[in-house]
Amino acid sequence: MPMVSMRQLLDEAAKGGYGVGAFNVNNMEQIQAIMEAARETKSPVVIQASRGARAYSNDRFLYHLMLAATEVYPEIPVALHLDHGNSVETCKSAIEMGFTSVMMDGSLMPDGKTPSTFDYNVKATREVVEMAHAKGVTVEGEIGVLGGIEDGHGAGVDALSHVTDPEQAEEFVKQTGLDALAIAIGTSHGAYKFTRKPTGEVLKMDRLIEIHNRLKTTHLVMHGSSSVPQDLQDIINKYGGKLRPTFGVPVEEIQLGIKNGVRKVNVDTDNRLAMTGAIRKVLMETPEKFDPRDYLKPAREAMKKVVALRMTQFGQAGHAGDYQPIPISEMAKKYAAGKL
Ligand code: G3H
Ligand code: 13P
Ligand code: ZN
Repeated sequence: MPMVSMRQLLDEAAKGGYGVGAFNVNNMEQIQAIMEAARETKSPVVIQASRGARAYSNDRFLYHLMLAATEVYPEIPVALHLDHGNSVETCKSAIEMGFTSVMMDGSLMPDGKTPSTFDYNVKATREVVEMAHAKGVTVEGEIGVLGGIEDGHGAGVDALSHVTDPEQAEEFVKQTGLDALAIAIGTSHGAYKFTRKPTGEVLKMDRLIEIHNRLKTTHLVMHGSSSVPQDLQDIINKYGGKLRPTFGVPVEEIQLGIKNGVRKVNVDTDNRLAMTGAIRKVLMETPEKFDPRDYLKPAREAMKKVVALRMTQFGQAGHAGDYQPIPISEMAKKYAAGKL
């Protein structure tokens, strides 16, 4: 099947009451790991590329790898999403390349670090919505800012100082007409999120529930949702790595989010940890090896395992065959007719 719009995936997830993992990719092995996990668990899935990923891979390569994925795994509904677009221009170039969904992250200025104003965010997001919906492409926006700065997609602030305000979230959705809304509830990107296991209070789950109660039909997105499992940290450190002790977002809190309107769950770090651990193991245990396939194959397998587990935990497993894909051109007509 062709790539589908993220809006369709998330509308179906809302009907079924489950969440959809959105996994970041930069290369062939990561795309293959996700598609294999999707096949094994029969899951619809979102594959996303950041600006950094587009620059690293030269995004035309990524795009064609995605076309290959739709040919090799025709039974899997998959959307190609731009993660953390920093400007209208970046979103435009992704839409022109064939992405079926874009994120306009107007919570930050185009430098990806400085928190923006509400008016700037509305204006930039609204502009992207008009451009994207005319082509049937989905739009995710963000209100409130994520903490952390290590990946260039978070303000260098304490994660709790810019938690999303529910009233502002409601106003933002009304003024922009977006499809999915990323909210800040105390998570941050990367491995170093918390120094101890966070409770539902630390994570501001009550805030998430309040936002959902005001915006019942808006698909909520949780960024920074890696769980940073101890076993993956241990493998890296056992084989010469140097991770400091750290905690991620417990899966049970994500599941509580999914019960309360979260439809898209962003995971990158857990997969990075899984791949790096597998590569370190091969290189340490068999230093005589130098064929990249000797370590990329186990790395791909390790990532596939993490992704398959998350697909089961988020509830998307078993739903790949539930619906027929709606072509992007049909989605454009639906937006134009005010049906979405
Ligand atoms: O949002 C952050 C993702 O983990 C992507 O990170 O910008 O290093 O590719 P990146
Ligand atoms: P993690 O760093 O927790 O995997 O978050 C990824 C993310 O939010 C991508 O947008
Ligand atoms: Zn993110």
